[in-house]
Amino acid sequence: MKKSVFIAILMLFAAWQTAFAQEKLQSPDGKLELQFELNDGTPYYMLNRDGKPVVLPSKMGFTLEWRDDLEHAFVLKDVERSTFDEVWEPVWGEESHIRNHYNEMLVTLEQPVGSVESMDHSTEKKATVMQIRFRLYDDGLGFRYEFPMENALVYFWIKEELTEFAMTGDHTAWWIPGDLDTQEYNYTESRLSQIRELFDKSHEGGGWPWTAFSKTGVQTALQMKTDDGLYINIHEAATLDYPTMHLELLETENSELKNSTLDNYSKLSTLNSKLVFRAFLCPDATGYKGRLQAPCHTPWRTVMVCEKATDVLASRLILNLNDPCAIEDVSWIHPVKYMGVWWEMISGKSAWSYTNDFPSVKLGETDYEHATPHGFHGANNANVRRYIDFAAENGFDALLIEGWNIGWEDWYAKQKDFVFDFITPYPDFDLPALNQYAHEKGIRLIMHHESSASTQNYERWMEKAYTLMNEYGYDAVKGGYVGTIIPFGEGHYSQPINNHYHYAIVEAAKHHIMVNSHEAVRPTGLCRTWPNMIGNESAMGTEFRGRIKPGHTTILPFTRLQGGPMDYTPGIFVTDMEQIVSWDKGDKMRHTICNQLGLYVTFYSPLQMAADFPEHYEQFMDAFQFIKDVAVDWDTTVYLEAEPGAYIVTARKPKVSTLNKAADGVGELADGKKGVISGAARYVYAIPDDVETCHGASLPEQPRDVWYIGGITDENAREVKIKLDFLEKGKTYDAIIYADGKDASGLPDEGYNPQSYTITKKKVTSKTVLKMKMAPCGGFAVSIRERK
Ligand code: NOJ
Ligand code: CA
Repeated sequence: MKKSVFIAILMLFAAWQTAFAQEKLQSPDGKLELQFELNDGTPYYMLNRDGKPVVLPSKMGFTLEWRDDLEHAFVLKDVERSTFDEVWEPVWGEESHIRNHYNEMLVTLEQPVGSVESMDHSTEKKATVMQIRFRLYDDGLGFRYEFPMENALVYFWIKEELTEFAMTGDHTAWWIPGDLDTQEYNYTESRLSQIRELFDKSHEGGGWPWTAFSKTGVQTALQMKTDDGLYINIHEAATLDYPTMHLELLETENSELKNSTLDNYSKLSTLNSKLVFRAFLCPDATGYKGRLQAPCHTPWRTVMVCEKATDVLASRLILNLNDPCAIEDVSWIHPVKYMGVWWEMISGKSAWSYTNDFPSVKLGETDYEHATPHGFHGANNANVRRYIDFAAENGFDALLIEGWNIGWEDWYAKQKDFVFDFITPYPDFDLPALNQYAHEKGIRLIMHHESSASTQNYERWMEKAYTLMNEYGYDAVKGGYVGTIIPFGEGHYSQPINNHYHYAIVEAAKHHIMVNSHEAVRPTGLCRTWPNMIGNESAMGTEFRGRIKPGHTTILPFTRLQGGPMDYTPGIFVTDMEQIVSWDKGDKMRHTICNQLGLYVTFYSPLQMAADFPEHYEQFMDAFQFIKDVAVDWDTTVYLEAEPGAYIVTARKPKVSTLNKAADGVGELADGKKGVISGAARYVYAIPDDVETCHGASLPEQPRDVWYIGGITDENAREVKIKLDFLEKGKTYDAIIYADGKDASGLPDEGYNPQSYTITKKKVTSKTVLKMKMAPCGGFAVSIRERK
């Protein structure tokens, strides 16, 4: 062969290689395989499991303002591979140790000088560099885009992120509609192809304000199940300084992909996906979807793939993709079991506001001191004391009080900037005295900051508000973002507003304050980095009462809870709202008392509420005992059975080191009662009720081996068999079993009987198999303690 022909062939081969360069990455167990290629200069990825596609070839990239897009003319410059394996300990969580084990591939792509055009003539001519970092775990994939400093791209504005997730079939999905302002929706279970026809209906009974962007838009985490029984979940991790990603189903064939080298591609061409999700980033007020400055990276885009539903619940993919803890001293962060002056206002029995005197209020001008109280203000001294007494008597850590501060007369839907100052109490709420009263009983008060979505007003007052909290010994705040975001034009999940939520967390950490935000963006595992983020609502919670569909709480752990815990506010024992306010006829919540008990175990949160009134619990003290006994932070979790939309059964073993941490913290306050024993510590240490207090380490006995089991079901009654083989062999345990009564039902029209339950005691060992029956919308709870 002539030398020149040989060189020409070599060059052609090199050009082909650049055009269709393919790289592969395997998960540690070898089951998942990620394939990446540049197809005619455009990046594509594909995900296989056991040789079968889970995500078909899917495009990657961006369109940008003022310059050529990041979707073509790329050449592959470099590929780096590595492996990572560590075990880390979360400050709180579903287990005390988490393994983070993945294989990584970092591909560096370049648009060479001259291959694309930039409007920024001031920049020195350099290549445009975009890297894609893939991490492949046994249970899924994470990837993100990175933009190093050495780059023609330094400041750039995103028009669209082009990341696609091409599905292999018309999977079953559990979805809520894509929305720029709310996530407070019931889930719709349907085939992907039905999203369009069901979209309008999916808004029924949901939150406000709702701002849809497409009739095929859905939110993440999106849980799907293939006809082969594989569970696929698309979400994102570590969303910081970037808009939230929703998904839009394109219902179109991906025709741009030519002669792909991705394995299986030729075999797949007949089933080339017509069900392609594309990333939809929540725009800011000017329509842009992210303003970036190199060096920077996007959040992780995640595709979880599991054979069993219980494996989805056990996955720590989202947490693992977040950075380690950024707070050096975490000694002030602790789990919290709390009650609240809250359900009164939600149910309409009392009000957040204080007076009806004023058609409008202006902070600093309105004279509350001389106003006539309307008589229904929930956060009044006497009522708060009543709750403190009950919470203290029953081993709780804290009490939330809403409506304590001036401004609630016109907080809602007024689009009012200066809506609250977060520091001035109503005349009948004696903040210093109530805190002292609470501390003397071993209870902390939880602060409430409803911002009415005026993020700029909250930032105005934040430092003063957090300082006031420090002054009076509050160490946790519940935030809220109800309504239209101010600055106007922003949605709840745009880059600037996501930055606000994060700012609130970081500033709170400086003040040693734990945060539980409602209506803020749904979490993406940031609580690993900022464990003072102990809760979020960011989904439809108990406040929706009878509008919540049966089975809702069996879906949330697959979706919303993947990103972090939820303040679902469970524990409602009186479910017929008419029994609280006579005008609320027909509003009946669809759950039994035992379903609510089961939630304390199936639904993970280090901040767990008992949301009902003291006087309601007083009617059912024997069932309430489980809420008193249950822990909220865990050493070990075993997911026994689960199916989204149907049922979940979970067993958990408490983390002993944090059982009494909240109570011990109160004891360190100057006015705090020392040696208080939390309900869960009392149960785990088997401390009798007549032992009032104990001091620090000198708890009367060694902790027992304790487990709690919870089960919940949708509208279908079920029976489950639970093998207690997770108990220690050779030990004997006492179990207390809280079960739906034979005639129990949480279905309003069919023999509604939500308060029927039985409590039985039983000796159990690791050989015992418990048969548990759940009523429609029912559940069960079991506490198990080693016998001595
Ligand atoms: C909505 C929250 O979800 C709820 O818990 C709170 O009580 C109200 N906003 C008032 O802030
Ligand atoms: Ca809410």
